[in-house]
Amino acid sequence: MMNRRQVLRTTVAGGGLLVLRNGMLKGADAPSNKLNVALIGVWGRGGAHQDGLSKENVAALCDVDENHLAEAAKRFPQAKTYVDWRKCLEQKGLDAVVCCTTDHTHAFIANWAMNRGLHVFCEKPLGNSVEEVRVVRANYLKNKGKLATQVGTQRHSHPNFNRVRELIRDGAIGELKRVCAWGDRQIRRPGYLPAQGDPPKHLNYDLWIGPSPHHPYNPGYFSGGPGANCLQWNMYWDFGSGQIGDMGSHTMDLAWNALDAGLPTSAEAKGEKFNPEVTPVELEMHCEVPANDWRPAIRVSWYQGGAMPKSPAWVNLKTIGHGVMFTGSKGVLVADFGARLIIPSGDAADMTYYTPRPKEKVIPPMGDFLNEWINACKGNRRTSCDFDYGGKMIELMLLGLVAYRVGQKIEYDGVAGRVTNSDEGDGLLKRQYRPGWSLNG
Ligand SMILES: NC(=O)c1ccc[n+]([C@@H]2O[C@H](COP(=O)([O-])OP(=O)(O)OC[C@H]3O[C@@H](n4cnc5c(N)ncnc54)[C@H](O)[C@@H]3O)[C@@H](O)[C@H]2O)c1
Repeated sequence: MMNRRQVLRTTVAGGGLLVLRNGMLKGADAPSNKLNVALIGVWGRGGAHQDGLSKENVAALCDVDENHLAEAAKRFPQAKTYVDWRKCLEQKGLDAVVCCTTDHTHAFIANWAMNRGLHVFCEKPLGNSVEEVRVVRANYLKNKGKLATQVGTQRHSHPNFNRVRELIRDGAIGELKRVCAWGDRQIRRPGYLPAQGDPPKHLNYDLWIGPSPHHPYNPGYFSGGPGANCLQWNMYWDFGSGQIGDMGSHTMDLAWNALDAGLPTSAEAKGEKFNPEVTPVELEMHCEVPANDWRPAIRVSWYQGGAMPKSPAWVNLKTIGHGVMFTGSKGVLVADFGARLIIPSGDAADMTYYTPRPKEKVIPPMGDFLNEWINACKGNRRTSCDFDYGGKMIELMLLGLVAYRVGQKIEYDGVAGRVTNSDEGDGLLKRQYRPGWSLNG
């Protein structure tokens, strides 16, 4: 006898109808083939996912803001509602979780959900420390093939991502030597906001703070528009990682998709003066990434907040807000999310070394990003930005922040997850939590 999940998987993988022993037909659109989803963080980014989830059975809604919760409950009246995600994850019969909360709770929710056998779509960034993203990745790898996961880097579905990958893999710039990604977003804050009044009744502020050290309430943390409120809190160390986790998650993904990279062996970084409360605006970091079977070891760099890689001839990189530059033995490829440009390096670069792919070898479009995950939950569990792919990428970025804090080049053992030449750096791979919160519960 198949359980409900096996039925889901079989009907969708087969794309058709299944005759059960009791004679009932189960088609892909039958109510029993819908995922029972918990949406945690229902407004803002969570609101943006509601349309995509409305074809499934949204069985649980969770938000620390009871006004947001009440609004979402109007759209999904059948859903049970919660203010504490730990309670929400106890609900029986769930299949999957979509997590759209603050960055400092992502890894917690992802781990708890996977530990309960649930598929997870988690908004970027996957965690707020190297340790957090490593635990998430380990939990995913333990469940690979059973659980479908996706980091919410939906720009990945832009066709340009795979056009760039094809050009790099097919040798359009010769042998790959170096990759630089950058972003110019600058949001400067002096420190945590001062205490200002009491939290409103509809806001469970203590749950919003969650595992992080306490900071007094200030309405400023909640003053942004839907989908942009993260810009009111993601620069503070206890709530986010600044542009590393914000646009860095999207922009480095454009590079990462073309690299087939593992974890770095070292990281170094420099930027503006360290502020113990706020992540740096201006920063550059450089990581050594080992060779693989098609390219040598390369340097992967990230620049933000005004720091920029040197522009190649003919292109002023500063005109590209968020972009990537690949440098190869025979030229340079510059790209943003929607466009790409190849500059062969000099007269010797005659492009004879490069053959465009025939149409049938071009990587097919991935389609809707959220839907890829929904289908994977019901089918083969494979997604483009699973917690292994996306986890390693954000681990590299967060390691760069550790190097920045230590102020020296750090050597990294990616198997053990240890900084091997700095005790301080090794300690900074983890964050401190308030008592009562467990990362891997
Ligand atoms: N993929 C993208 O393009 C994209 C765009 C915007 C935001 N994001 C990501 O989405 C996440 C949310 O960003 P936002 O701007 O919507 O933030 P937000 O501050 O508006 O929070 C979204 C919702 O989550 C709720 N929430 C916060 N903490 C919670 C908790 N512990 N438990 C339950 N509910 C909680 C809030 O009350 C709110 O309703 C961030 O991690 C951000 O990085 C991604």
